[in-house]
Amino acid sequence: DWVMRDHVEKAVQRIREQVGSEEVILGLSGGVDSSVAAALIHRAIGDQLTCVFVDHGLLRLDEGKAVMEMFAGRLHAKVVHVDASAQFLGQLAGISDPEAKRKIIGREFVEVFQAEAAKLKDAGGAASSGGAKWLAQGTIYPDVIESGGAKTKKATTIKSHHNVGGLPETLGLKLLEPLRDLFKDEVRELGVELGLPHDMVYRHPFPGPGLGVRILGEVKREFADLLRRADAIFIEELRATIDPASGKSWYELTSQAFAVFLPVKSVGVMGDGRTYDYVVALRAVQTSDFMTADWAELPFGLLKKVSSRIINEVRGINRVTYDVSSKPPATIEWE
Ligand code: XMP
Repeated sequence: DWVMRDHVEKAVQRIREQVGSEEVILGLSGGVDSSVAAALIHRAIGDQLTCVFVDHGLLRLDEGKAVMEMFAGRLHAKVVHVDASAQFLGQLAGISDPEAKRKIIGREFVEVFQAEAAKLKDAGGAASSGGAKWLAQGTIYPDVIESGGAKTKKATTIKSHHNVGGLPETLGLKLLEPLRDLFKDEVRELGVELGLPHDMVYRHPFPGPGLGVRILGEVKREFADLLRRADAIFIEELRATIDPASGKSWYELTSQAFAVFLPVKSVGVMGDGRTYDYVVALRAVQTSDFMTADWAELPFGLLKKVSSRIINEVRGINRVTYDVSSKPPATIEWE
């Protein structure tokens, strides 16, 4: 629509005025905010933008591939893809406390990103200006309010993973935040106007520590691989199942949905044999603010299909459960 088109024009103009011919670095996470920020800044300054995509090995199935295809492939943006999974998993070995895991993931993330940013700052890339001068972030208006101290302690913790806080000072970069005045809905509309796919712009939130907080206890690559496949089946079926009453998919009717890996084994049967394999819990919630949430009353037919697909397709998982706990007292994530 023309209001959004006008908004894009103005935002593009402002970014050009702000950065001139200088170079910009942006941490791309695959989430809505950083994706829209990247698309907008790329529209404004093209190759003066370099995106850094840190893959911590705890992303959903094919997430890295999708991000690269979209930004490097379709938008022709400069994207540095850092596969840091070995480093993250190495640091997480032997650690089972949820807060300790969060801290390690947050710390490693900052370290890896900072190292890449420092290279871009010093080297100067292809452009004339000799090194990046700006750090762009997908900060949106609710983040601005939150960091003003209006929210709970938990929210502050969450932010430490999301926004690479403190980086601009450490790196001596200027901060570029073109979504600072926008609410989530406006960010999504802007994303659509910029040509990002609907599915990318209207996706469920995904926590910064990723599958790290969805694998209970110690994180292992083997567990992450099993969880990724189970989770992808769940999401695929949620997208494919339409609720006749509303005409919407169950992905749209839920605010967040995912699988959780439980590192316990239970007995099952397959053919003539006995199995002794891991358990996956499915979690789907409906909420308007993520502070409170109800477990979603998914149709039994959908649960049945997801369960049988996971057990048949993901060797190593022989039992699927559905989480019927609301928040509070349960949190949305299991850790
Ligand atoms: P909880 O589990 O506290 O989650 O009910 C509320 C919302 O916050 C997300 N969440 C996180 N996001 N880093 C993030 O970026 C985190 O450490 C983190 N922990 C929870 C969660 O996915 C839900 O949307």
